[in-house]
Amino acid sequence: MYPRSFADSDGDGLGDLPGITSRVPHLAALGVDAVWLSPFYPSALADGGYDVDDHRDVDPRIGTLAQFDDLVAALHAHGIRVVVDIVPNHSSDRHRWFREALAAGPGSPERARYVFRRGLGADGERPPSDWRAVFGGPAWEPVGDGDWYLHLFAPEQPDWNWDHPEVREDFLTTLRFWSDRGVDGFRIDVAHALTKDLSEPLPTQAELDAGTLVDGRHPYEDRDAVHEVYRAWRAVFEEYDPPRTAVAEAWVPAHRRARYASPEGLGQAFNFDLLMDDPDAGQFRRTVEENLALARESGTSSTWVLSNHDVVRHATRYALPAGTDLQAWLLRGGTDPAPDVERGLRLARAATALVLALPGSTYLYQGEELGLPEVADLDAADLQDPTWVRSQGTEKGRDGCRVPLPWSASGPALGFGDGSPHLPQPAWFADYAVERQEGEATSTLALYRRAIALRARLQSPETLEWADDVPAGVVQFRRPGGWTSVTNLGTSPVPLPAGRVVLSSGPQTEDQLALLTELPGETTAWLVTPST
Ligand code: GLC
Repeated sequence: MYPRSFADSDGDGLGDLPGITSRVPHLAALGVDAVWLSPFYPSALADGGYDVDDHRDVDPRIGTLAQFDDLVAALHAHGIRVVVDIVPNHSSDRHRWFREALAAGPGSPERARYVFRRGLGADGERPPSDWRAVFGGPAWEPVGDGDWYLHLFAPEQPDWNWDHPEVREDFLTTLRFWSDRGVDGFRIDVAHALTKDLSEPLPTQAELDAGTLVDGRHPYEDRDAVHEVYRAWRAVFEEYDPPRTAVAEAWVPAHRRARYASPEGLGQAFNFDLLMDDPDAGQFRRTVEENLALARESGTSSTWVLSNHDVVRHATRYALPAGTDLQAWLLRGGTDPAPDVERGLRLARAATALVLALPGSTYLYQGEELGLPEVADLDAADLQDPTWVRSQGTEKGRDGCRVPLPWSASGPALGFGDGSPHLPQPAWFADYAVERQEGEATSTLALYRRAIALRARLQSPETLEWADDVPAGVVQFRRPGGWTSVTNLGTSPVPLPAGRVVLSSGPQTEDQLALLTELPGETTAWLVTPST
């Protein structure tokens, strides 16, 4: 959940915690096990809240700590667990410790908590290296006294120095602070970049890009030392009963993910492989096989993600020809090529039904349960993502998946709240409103509810058996207890395997399911079969 775009209770155009609390019945009806809240901490919103001023408080525009407690209580009352986002690679430049660092000057103990370096040249007028930040532009920012600080993301996001014991201790305090308030788990932002080796000479950006590093030593990506940090966090998680959980956002090669996901580490790691795949039977099956094997190896469960607050929504990705450069397409206003909106939704529903049949944890992103496409034609003047400015207008960024949700088909901000929403909703958002889909047996919302409810019966044990003798374009597997999931990613119908159809991402009503004799193209069905 991206809290600023979920529901706005006070009409200031920004979603807030009481807004989420008022919509807990929607989450309960959806059937989710847990809610992951992206950052709601005090922030200047230089990066959608991932620039954290104070990790142990709530942004006053979003609510108060007491309202956070109310939200946790409301979710727990429905058996829904709460996961909060921890942002350990960087703080915001308004964090108390960063302000103290700036005031204290070069060489001070205050600066040692961050990554400050003397600039090159007689007066330190050149950056310590030519590294580029993720959002574009240089990764070092001068502070006017010959020192520069490292920011792998926006300049408003100075990187912490994880060699500093106070930084380590402070994050343990933060984990306990939220755990004591009843939080059940944590999502760890940029989990692979915390511990850095900045010994001289620093490699150049060209060397980083080419991977031609001395001893293969990357200065900040996926260094082994980061796992010591997570072992200490694991000890904190285990102080609680039940132990707190965590999931790593680690952009590392698949075979490196296991260490983040191990039971001695964070316990789970996002697998973004499906999110990178085309809706193609061969790619989907390969990704699933690889990730189930990796999960077994690390003694954890696998995770599946098709959409999140950082990527173009999957209903839109699948509406475009494979290989479309999405950022270039957004820059063209999302019309060239024209998205095939119906096909995108059909494939998105089929893919979601496939992942909901898999063993492991599936992470859904707010609005996908409505089949929402990306808002691809936001005006430049409305864009908030630092990517837009930092890339000098060559990448539009991630705002198109963060437009506030449509709850009703009419009224102010389509039921999001009484004020003007912080990102404008297009008129067609009304067609996807929760109100329209409620009680509509063929809606995407109805499909998600049914699939999530049925899924609860599929989860144990976490095994899966592939069917190999299937038509081209088909992904089919069996789960214990006689369940089969079959996805036809081709465009022509294929025969259905034996069994009673209990769910389909296409025809949806009980009558339609009873009459299904073949599986239409771009559709997933679940069947109950005798378990012999
Ligand atoms: C993660 C977040 C993203 C944020 C970045 C920097 O990738 O998901 O939204 O911009 O980290 O904190």
